[in-house]
Amino acid sequence: MRAPCRARCVAVGAAVPERRLTNADLAGMVDTSDEWIVSRTGIRERRVVDPGTPLSALAEPAARQCLERAGVAAADLDGIIVATISGDHIMPTTANLLQHRLGATRAWGYDLANACNGFIAALSTAAAFIEAGRAKRILVIGGDIMSTLVDYQDRNTCILFGDGAGAVLVEAGPADGPGIFGFELHSDGSGGGELMIPSSGSARPRTAEALAQRQQYVKQNGRTVFAAAIRRMAEVSESLMRTLGITAADIDLLVPHQANLRILEPTAERLGIPLERVVINIERMANTTGGTIPIALNDAFTAGRLVAGSRIMLVAFGGGLTWGACYLTWGR
Ligand code: ACO
Repeated sequence: MRAPCRARCVAVGAAVPERRLTNADLAGMVDTSDEWIVSRTGIRERRVVDPGTPLSALAEPAARQCLERAGVAAADLDGIIVATISGDHIMPTTANLLQHRLGATRAWGYDLANACNGFIAALSTAAAFIEAGRAKRILVIGGDIMSTLVDYQDRNTCILFGDGAGAVLVEAGPADGPGIFGFELHSDGSGGGELMIPSSGSARPRTAEALAQRQQYVKQNGRTVFAAAIRRMAEVSESLMRTLGITAADIDLLVPHQANLRILEPTAERLGIPLERVVINIERMANTTGGTIPIALNDAFTAGRLVAGSRIMLVAFGGGLTWGACYLTWGR
């Protein structure tokens, strides 16, 4: 009989573009100001790629850094899952291209689209494979090139997003060892219209008319999304804490999806987690959609805040609507 195991997160890596798009830069493009953006969102700058740079060009260095830190060869990967809504193409998937770029000769790969909750969804998929005994090592990437999906003529949305990718290696470990202790995932498609890219698939193909109406870009009802994010991120974290029988004292680091500082602060407050135990990089990175959580984990790692044994709560909310949380202890 197969020995039971626990999926564990053993290493992280990330890559963001060199190019900074500051609030002052945006103020030269739309009717906004540094003061408005900082006071409403906490964002000061975001990273953006040079036009034409595909997601795989960020995912590859993020993956290589992660594998090197883990001491694992690409050829030893069983699978690659890329959480994104802005992959290189719809077909082939970025995971397939990355499999080739990395020389991950034995690995299968596919992309998983779940907007800002994509990384937690991909992590849950990887953990399920591993705990079912169907894989030993899966590389989970979260990343987006949001600069291709936002309308730089729309001040309501263009200030919020940036580009970047992060990677986490998930591997099989002993059932009584560190690793992933639980997930909780939710969907509410009735709110699908609150945050969407209208012309991005079969419902509304990118006709000349759709493009002229700029329907290929992110549209959102900011206030509704804002209120739902605060409510759902706290709710799902509290629910998972109850299921696992843990309290705020069992969380060393809260690593939330980075959408708005005014969403992160009340979420942490409601959970009773002081801000020094929350990983926040939104002021430098903005919202990189699938990338926020692994990039934040990487920031915590490089700052020495994420170490073997760190007890971590991940939580996210995004377009779908979709939200989820994961509790884990880090490392081998
Ligand atoms: N600069 C100046 N003024 C602006 C800007 C801007 N960049 N953007 C909007 N405004 C104006 C609006 O037009 C509005 O003017 P009006 O009252 O004359 O119509 C006014 O500012 C206030 O707009 P509000 O929507 O009330 O501003 P709010 O305080 O809600 O902040 C924001 C807007 C930042 C978008 C907020 O609603 C938010 O963060 N929502 C969550 C959205 C989000 O993060 N989505 C990302 C994906 S989902 C996720 O990751 C959780």
